[in-house]
Amino acid sequence: MAVREILIHPDARLREVAKPVEFPLSDEVKGVIQDLADTMYDAPGVGLAAPQIGVSLRIAVTDTVWRSEEVRHNKDEEPCGEIRDLRVWINPEFLWKSEETATWEEGCLSVPETYAEVTRPAAVRLRWYDAEGMKHEQEFEGFQAVALQHEFDHLEGRLFIDYLSPLKRNLITKKMKKRFKS
Ligand code: NI
Repeated sequence: MAVREILIHPDARLREVAKPVEFPLSDEVKGVIQDLADTMYDAPGVGLAAPQIGVSLRIAVTDTVWRSEEVRHNKDEEPCGEIRDLRVWINPEFLWKSEETATWEEGCLSVPETYAEVTRPAAVRLRWYDAEGMKHEQEFEGFQAVALQHEFDHLEGRLFIDYLSPLKRNLITKKMKKRFKS
């Protein structure tokens, strides 16, 4: 159980395609899941994928219910720091994405202090495994659909800034290099 260091763009490890997780989970992988949750809540953030802490495995955690003052995605929304809904997504796979799209402002713990509008499918159907190895399938929409697509991208080595124009992306990369020298 530990808060781990979050890798900052343009760290090359954020660009790797993560490896599938094997069941039953090893103690090491269980530790990674705990660390992901601890690190996400500490940041604070609403989602975190294993590659962001330097672990190349297809695992992400989200909590789109819990929101501290800092991570409300909508300024009119009441913060509700007491209610938590930690979700663990292992080996997630999209079975369907809607043709209808939605545009949300996104940010990322690996691209600090940067927000931009990204357009993605508005609804998705996901298959995934939970920490107990149970397989699930469910349709998601709204903010949860955004969060899942954002986290899935991390497992593919993609970042939300990849959806922006090359000009914007280069400006962000320069800013990150300057501010967060690694
Ligand atoms: Ni992210």
